Formats: sequence, structure tokens, C-alpha cells
Amino acid sequence: MSTAGRGAVLALDQGTSGTKGLLVTEDGRVSATAHRPLTQQYPAPGWVEQDPAVLWRGVTAVAGELAARAAATGTRVTGLGLSVQREAVLVWDRDTGAALSPLVSWQDRRTAERCAGLAASAEAELISDRTGLPVDPMFSATKAEWLLDRVDPRRELATTGRLRVGTVDAWLLHRLTGGLTDATETGCASRTQLVRLDDAGWDPELLDLFRIPRAALPRIAASDGAGEELGHTRDVPGLADGLPIAAVLGDSHAALFAQSHGRPGTVKATYGTGASLMVLNPDGRRPAGGIAATLAWRRTRDTGAARALEANIASAGTAIHWAAQLLGTDPAGIAALAAGAREDAEVYLVPAFSGLGAPYWDRGARALLVGMDFDTGPAEVARAAVESMAYQVADTLSRFDTVLGGPVGELRADGGPTGNDRLMALQAELIGRPVRRSGRPEVSALGAAHLAGTALGLWNDADLPALTPRGTRFTASGDDAPRDRRMAGWRDAVACARGKPA
Ligand code: G3P
Repeated sequence: MSTAGRGAVLALDQGTSGTKGLLVTEDGRVSATAHRPLTQQYPAPGWVEQDPAVLWRGVTAVAGELAARAAATGTRVTGLGLSVQREAVLVWDRDTGAALSPLVSWQDRRTAERCAGLAASAEAELISDRTGLPVDPMFSATKAEWLLDRVDPRRELATTGRLRVGTVDAWLLHRLTGGLTDATETGCASRTQLVRLDDAGWDPELLDLFRIPRAALPRIAASDGAGEELGHTRDVPGLADGLPIAAVLGDSHAALFAQSHGRPGTVKATYGTGASLMVLNPDGRRPAGGIAATLAWRRTRDTGAARALEANIASAGTAIHWAAQLLGTDPAGIAALAAGAREDAEVYLVPAFSGLGAPYWDRGARALLVGMDFDTGPAEVARAAVESMAYQVADTLSRFDTVLGGPVGELRADGGPTGNDRLMALQAELIGRPVRRSGRPEVSALGAAHLAGTALGLWNDADLPALTPRGTRFTASGDDAPRDRRMAGWRDAVACARGKPA
């Protein structure tokens, strides 16, 4: 079908490993894709940074390529949808938009000591009660404090509002609008650990605790709009001026939007560098068992923000990359090696390379490989790396069952590693329920496109399920005994990694 004259949403997903883009035409088809990789720097042990200038060049290159492809087919770009990596933080000049610091990644652990001190203090409860999040260097607050201590130790520029400290969404909104939009999106703001769950506002007590002047922070905006909330493009290389920025979402939140179409009850698991399990939480259930509460998004048509429960597994794809480096191959090589592993091998990799995140939240845990014998070779190690993702997701999902008061149904899976059929089949087996793999790999960009399209009047919410390609469904055999044995082996291995042998 020709797309000539049709409207389309240009969706960008600015993630840790690069920027992906999609052009989604009004009939819901993805008519073009583009990608630019993004590297990370490791200037000291535990530090992870990215270069904002390189990130910006990647974003504009992807946007420009898609805009050119749209123009070549007579497709009219009606607006932009944006999904971004979360928690990463930088400082910029409010007047020029120039970055004054590197982007300190969500993976960065330079504030581990500060967090350990806070976690042991009376403030820990206040922080998690107000924000829904455990004290951990992953969230932006301690990193923002660390950056301001370097860039503006006396907070002179921050107090006058000349400096901005914030997450990728806020900086990109500034840059994409030529400095006219000074805002951060609700869901992304919630991941800073400075925002109250109750009313989605900056919390003055937490700002004091982390010594972040309110004047240094952008306003908290809704996640969608036809331009009035998030602004319009201005002076962006490769893009026309005046395009409405119609949606901004955190990447995990965007995946949830694409997988659930905004309806409660769907649990999604995104397998990336780490993994994120998320479900909408309309009843405001209290998080427990390593699961955090967060704000998913706020739509302009709604009075309040949508709440969600989320569990962040620290190492998922990183386990595959570690194994690939060790065995001198790449992630595809690991999947191929794993497929040839001995069926009876019971080797477990606990990928606690920087401690464990959800559902254990034990940053003191150490990575280990257990269960080896003389026949253990590269194939068994590769399989243990692949399987470590499935075990962690299974453990986490059982905590969701508890918090939600009953077993959740089908798990919706997305992200690069889900292309591995064996992983998906094992996942279904370990959780004892079906796993539905997303029909498109770029699910975060799709979620941003769908929310943007609803704000632009291209689609209603009711249209979204039909616009979302359905992927393969993997089912469990129903035989509990092997599953129980394997999960018991995994839990023993986790106990060892935590120095608490069962
Ligand atoms: O919480 C961090 C997350 O938003 C980053 O996701 O896909 O860029 O690794 P990703």
C-alpha cells in the first residue's frame, strides 16, 4: 500500500546502547526504521558515563534519516514520540542547552557509599515511602548531588536557575525545542527519587536531603499532548520546525504502554542490559519483596498519574556480554553455543557483577558460577548465562504474584534477548504460565509512537491493540517437578552468591 500523503509519527527510543527510530504511518505500519549506536565510558571502577554530544548527534541522525525517508515517500510527519533511558543524569546550561557534565549512567555506582550511609539511616524509610524506590545508586538523586558538588559546589548557579540538573528526557526536550521547553516527563521524573508518588511533585524535604535546589529542576510535565505540553521542534538538524512533541515516556514505561495499551493487569518483562518487570498499579498496592512503586505516565486527559509496580533486575544482557567476552564470541555466538549444552548439566551463573538488584537487592552479593564438573565446557557456561535471565525473571514474577494477591496471567516479553526461542521456552517453563513475545523488537519506540498518535488524534486507545503485531506464544508443559528442582538449584546458587548458603 502506498503511504503517499499519509500522516506518520516519528518515534525515537534513546536507550543506553543507542538510538532507534521508527516511522509509524497512520494505518499503524512501521514504514521505516533507523539506528545509531552509543558507546559508554568507564573512567573508574564502578563509573559508567556517556557523552551527551555523541548522544545528541545519534538522536538527530536517526530523526533526520527518518524525516528524509518520510519526505521521499510523500509521508507527512505529524509529530514526534520519544522514549528514553531513565535515571541517567546530567547538568546543563539552561540558557544554551550545553551539557556541563557527562551523562552519568543509571548503571553507575560512584555513589554506592553515600547510598549505603543513607540506607542505614532514618531517612531510608522516608525516601522509599515517599518515592516508592529503595535507596540505590541506580536512581538519579545521589548522582545529581554528586554532579552538582563538582560543577557548582556552592550551588550558586543552581540556586539562580542558571543550571539545570535532570534526566535525558528533560535535556532532549530542551534541545529538541531550541530551549523553549523546560520540562521533565512525569514517569522519568519519578525515577529520580525526588518525586512524591502521591501528587507527582518534587518533594522539598528530599531536595533538601540531596542538596538539590528546586530552581535547578525543570517543571514536571504530562507525558503527552499535541504540542502545548511538551513543545514543538525548533532548530533540530534534519527536522522541520514546528512539529509537535506529542509523547515522552521512560523506555520501560513505553514498553508497558505498548504491551498493555494502558490497561491494568498486563505484566511485561523487558530484557535489556538489565531487565525490568512492570505492571500498572491502579489500586495503589504497596510494593514489597524487592518490587518498587513508580509513576508510569500522566496523560493530559487524566487527572492524576498512572502508578506502576516495577522490579529492576541488575544484570540480564550483561551476563550474555560477560560470557561472550569470556568465550571469545558475541551474543549470537552465546545463543548458538548454549543450544549445544548438555541437557543434564546443572550449571548456574549468578550474574551479581555489581551485586544483585530485584528481587534480592543485595549489592554485596558477588557473581559466581556453580555446579561445574569435568564435562563443563563453553556450551554449559553459555547456557548458564542465558538461563540466568530466566531464573531471575521467574523469581521476580513470583514476588509480583504475592504483591498483586494472586498469580498474574501471561507474561509479555520484549527486548533483544527474547529473540532466543530457547530462552522464551525456558521462561514459560520456569514460571509455569505462557510467555508472549512482542511482535516487534522496538517495543519502546512503538509505545512512544502509540501514545503520541493518540495525542495527535491519529488513533483512539481502542485502536491500539489492532496496531500492535502479536508475537509468538510459548507455553509451559505443566510438569512441575523439573521446574521445582531447577528453581531450587538456582536459589541455592543465589544464597551462595549472597554469602548465605542455604
Ligand atoms: O532504568 C534504565 C533503563 O531505562 C535503561 O534501559 O533499554 O536503555 O538499557 P535500556
